[in-house]
Amino acid sequence: MSKYRIAWLPGDGIGIEVMDATRIVLDGLELDADYVHGDIGWDFWCGEGDAFPQRTIQLLKEVDAALFGAITSKPVKAAEAELAAKLKGQGLTYRSPIVRMRQQFDLYVCLRPCKAYPGNPLNYKEGIDLVVFRENTEDLYAGVEFHPVPPELAATLGALSKPFAPFGRLAGDEYAVSCKINTKKGSERIVRAAFEFAKKHGRKKVTIVHKANVVRASDGLFLEEARNVAKDFPDIQTDDANVDAIGMWLLKNPFNYDVLVAPNLYGDVISDLCAQMVGGLGFGCSGNIGEKLAVFEPTHGSAPKHAGKQKANPIATILAAKMMLDWLGEKEKAERLATAVAAVIAEGRVRTYDMGGGSTTQDMGRAVAAKLPVSARK
Ligand code: IPM
Ligand code: MG
Repeated sequence: MSKYRIAWLPGDGIGIEVMDATRIVLDGLELDADYVHGDIGWDFWCGEGDAFPQRTIQLLKEVDAALFGAITSKPVKAAEAELAAKLKGQGLTYRSPIVRMRQQFDLYVCLRPCKAYPGNPLNYKEGIDLVVFRENTEDLYAGVEFHPVPPELAATLGALSKPFAPFGRLAGDEYAVSCKINTKKGSERIVRAAFEFAKKHGRKKVTIVHKANVVRASDGLFLEEARNVAKDFPDIQTDDANVDAIGMWLLKNPFNYDVLVAPNLYGDVISDLCAQMVGGLGFGCSGNIGEKLAVFEPTHGSAPKHAGKQKANPIATILAAKMMLDWLGEKEKAERLATAVAAVIAEGRVRTYDMGGGSTTQDMGRAVAAKLPVSARK
């Protein structure tokens, strides 16, 4: 029996080819693992009415970790239109599988390291090394949404909230309500995870991102919990910033920042910004981490227009595999992988189209595998 059982979830679009390229690297490392394929993605929505079928949920209960490629998602009406004829009109609604996975398995930490590898022509500035901790299960992603707004909800909001009055006069289908729900527990644990990380990795500062000056209730609670957690880490500098301002400051001076922690939606936004500063979609990697399971993925989507063309840069997925190795405790393999990625980027001979080159997805996987340092343990 292998040491690890890893769910292998390519999804669709370029998810499939970036995962294949990543496998070349993992095989090069001789990770002692069984990779168990899991069905997930657009085809399963169209054919079965569920992009994240029950059998894949079951698989995730039985593995040590998962690596996930990418999945196409489309707005409600477009998704309904592509359902198999026999499934149409049954009230099936498409909800992003990755968001469901994060909630169902309580993968509350979304960890997104954004490091500029020296020599990457896409670096915004050399030397950027930011880490985003994004809350991953609540906030505007809670999924508590209404359109049309039911009359009983409108009546209750009307009775409880003065600012609701102008909305309450509208017909239910003339407006929509999405609830932003932040809990004390959810806020506390993501901020604690960010500080623990900072402490463990010798990071100097944690910046709390919010909009508590306007979104007083939910962001107010997040900020208050965050400040309380910060008191337990007197050796780490703490500051906080509004999400709009941090967008500006991060661009202006990324070197003033180190670890950032944010509620779900702001974390989504700033992690794209940070990824762009270190090379964009081809370099953004992500860990969705809970107590029992962790799912690693590139931050990019399925890019259907590039699917099957072997154009996509697999480095984001390869770096997600590095995060997985770290999480499994395979530090030596994780380091070797990072060294190989750094060497390929610094050398600049193998570059995918986003980096201005003509190498294929597979070329990149093979190039990284070829640069893996020989294990000191052999
Ligand atoms: C991400 C993505 C997802 C999100 C989408 C694909 C649902 O943007 O992982 O950042 O919004 O969380
Ligand atoms: Mg995103």
